[in-house]
Amino acid sequence: MQPKKKTAIALRKMKSAGERIAMMTAYDAAFARALDEAGLDALLVGDSLGMAVRGERDTLNVTLDEIAYHCRMVARATRHAHVVCDLPFLSYQISAEEAVRSAGLLVAKGGAESVKLEGGAEYAKEIARIVRAGIPVMGHIGLTPQSVNLLGGYGVQGRDEATAQKLMSDALSLQDAGCYALVLEMIPHELATHITASLEIPTIGIGAGVGCDGQVLVCYDALGMNPDFTPRFLKRYAELYAEIGQAVRTYATEVKSGAFPDEVHSFATKPVQLAPAASASPEAAKVYGATGS
Ligand code: KIV
Repeated sequence: MQPKKKTAIALRKMKSAGERIAMMTAYDAAFARALDEAGLDALLVGDSLGMAVRGERDTLNVTLDEIAYHCRMVARATRHAHVVCDLPFLSYQISAEEAVRSAGLLVAKGGAESVKLEGGAEYAKEIARIVRAGIPVMGHIGLTPQSVNLLGGYGVQGRDEATAQKLMSDALSLQDAGCYALVLEMIPHELATHITASLEIPTIGIGAGVGCDGQVLVCYDALGMNPDFTPRFLKRYAELYAEIGQAVRTYATEVKSGAFPDEVHSFATKPVQLAPAASASPEAAKVYGATGS
């Protein structure tokens, strides 16, 4: 029997059922189909697309329309996994009204089934308003890449008592505001385990250790499309960059030698006499499809 489409409620219930959530990012239909059929619970159309797909330095210039466009491709190809889409920089920070409008656009135009936004207790109002509009929200605390300029980089967060305490109370505020799940990015595993144990909603970690209720990785990183990116938290499950290189080198060699396309990859026809074009050489009068032609 085909597994059913995963809803935000189903993801939330996985925590009480003791089932871990496996999530990866996806940005287009081809990858979404492969990841979905491999059995992931959720696909995140992350604003990491700015870096992973477009090669930007950060996620800050991804717009709402751009991410909705990517989300549409992912949503179309995904039959089972839950599709959650990031609210990009400045699409929810200005007012609760704009937050609802932006989230609504990702659902209506992008086909998202829930949205994710970065930030702590200071966004409780925006989260509550989006949820009130009927859209499930996933929170995201710890390293929040949209604040990279404030944080001064992409390092581990919550290493001292004050910041750890702030993350703990942010997590509770986001749960109270109505989040159905919470991403914990780049925090010490002891803190992530403590937060996870204190919440009813599931935590999904990236660089936050095994004590979370689930894990998320950027698909291109996990599948080895980004060979120079080797942070400690990242495990590579494939070496696609190397495999693609090997495949393309073979293709180019075969094209240049004439080994491709061979007979198996070519079309044949019945012998037909083609009238030569006015300026054609005698060669053009050949019988096409005849043996030896
Ligand atoms: O944009 C993204 O890909 C993310 C994940 C790393 C959690 O927010």
